[in-house]
Amino acid sequence: MSPPALLRRIRRHVIGRPRRWFVVTAPGLETLCEEESAAAGLPPAIVLPGGIEAEGRLPELYRAHLALRTATRILLRLGAIRAGRFEELERRAASFPWELYLKPESAIGFSVAVHRCRLHHRGAIAERLHAAIRGRLGCVAAGAGGGGRQRVFVRGEEDRFVLSLDASGEPLHRRGLKRRAGKAPLRATLAAAALRLIGYTGAELLLDPMCGGGSFTLEAALLAKGIPPGWFRPFAFFDWPAFRPPTWEHLRRTAARGMRTLEAPRIFASDRDAAACRALAEILEENRLGDAARVACADFFALDPAAFPGAPGIVVLNPPWGRRLGAAAAARGLLRAIVAQLRERYAGWRVALVAPAAWAAEIAPLRLARHELVHGGLRVGLFHGTVAGGERLSRGPSPSRTDA
Ligand SMILES: C[S@@+](CC[C@H](N)C(=O)[O-])C[C@H]1O[C@@H](n2cnc3c(N)ncnc32)[C@H](O)[C@@H]1O
Repeated sequence: MSPPALLRRIRRHVIGRPRRWFVVTAPGLETLCEEESAAAGLPPAIVLPGGIEAEGRLPELYRAHLALRTATRILLRLGAIRAGRFEELERRAASFPWELYLKPESAIGFSVAVHRCRLHHRGAIAERLHAAIRGRLGCVAAGAGGGGRQRVFVRGEEDRFVLSLDASGEPLHRRGLKRRAGKAPLRATLAAAALRLIGYTGAELLLDPMCGGGSFTLEAALLAKGIPPGWFRPFAFFDWPAFRPPTWEHLRRTAARGMRTLEAPRIFASDRDAAACRALAEILEENRLGDAARVACADFFALDPAAFPGAPGIVVLNPPWGRRLGAAAAARGLLRAIVAQLRERYAGWRVALVAPAAWAAEIAPLRLARHELVHGGLRVGLFHGTVAGGERLSRGPSPSRTDA
């Protein structure tokens, strides 16, 4: 097909029509993501297990990438094929207009899941689909990579295969900030969810006194400065034949109007690990977020929260979970000490605490609401509310030296 004829078809069938997409979230974050999407003025979405589904034009899909903080990835729905035999699958896939969505030079990967299908060999399904797409696009090789890396998601249920194209590329919790390699930080999507639950607007005083890699601080700094989470990174849809850079530039220019430089930081990060603090300070500087947040090396138990301007504010905590063998008991001991410290010194503060859901008993004295989600196969609680407390509790032996 001649390039102008293909362009016309892309304009008519992909750009000019409302499309359906599925925003994947961590299980448990669906409702939060729907609220976030509605607040951003994105097309109405319905909540489903594992994400939200919406329909709109491609620029809205692009804007969702720029704006959504709790989303993991976004899949453009392409269509569905019914097949009980491999020949059928390949034949029907070959009649699908892949050229409207993929460039011939793209490297193509597959993510296949099947449930109650006669075809259940995931590798063979991917192979047949790949052959069909290559034939349709007229590819010589299996993708030289010049059209970027694209991933087709296939979900088979009772012989019906739903095909989607990953619009995001790298998972969206990777914000694209310049970072140091270090300990695995809390996912940005979880930090964003906790900040949303506690009602952080970007204007309040916020303490992150066990900051580690700084996910809370970085996420809060983006919010405080009005920077959308997708500002720093590329997306897979940049390599779609339907992508128009001017549309993206327009979305970015509009988003840039909401950004601000702050006169004085209102986010205070600290950790007893000096190297972690140094690394976070550098990340803030390199990403020009230094006006929003300041970092200091300090022990949580030595902080005087009342000394911070704007107190009482919000305190966010992601204490060690003690996943290493033998560390869980120490981590729970540290958590009890944190809870006692919060009740003693943080009365009137709003708190967001991320911890294994199974630790609810330790956190119970704070009488916080709990939002549960699944993260890395573990049930995690986003505990949030205002600290009542004010009374002195027994804290146990030297918590600051607890090594979890
Ligand atoms: C699970 S990590 C936090 C991860 C962080 N949310 C991130 O995004 O990377 C827990 C952190 O608590 C810090 N920590 C443990 N006990 C502390 C204490 N008494 N005072 C300050 N920091 C402490 C550790 O050094 C570690 O960086």
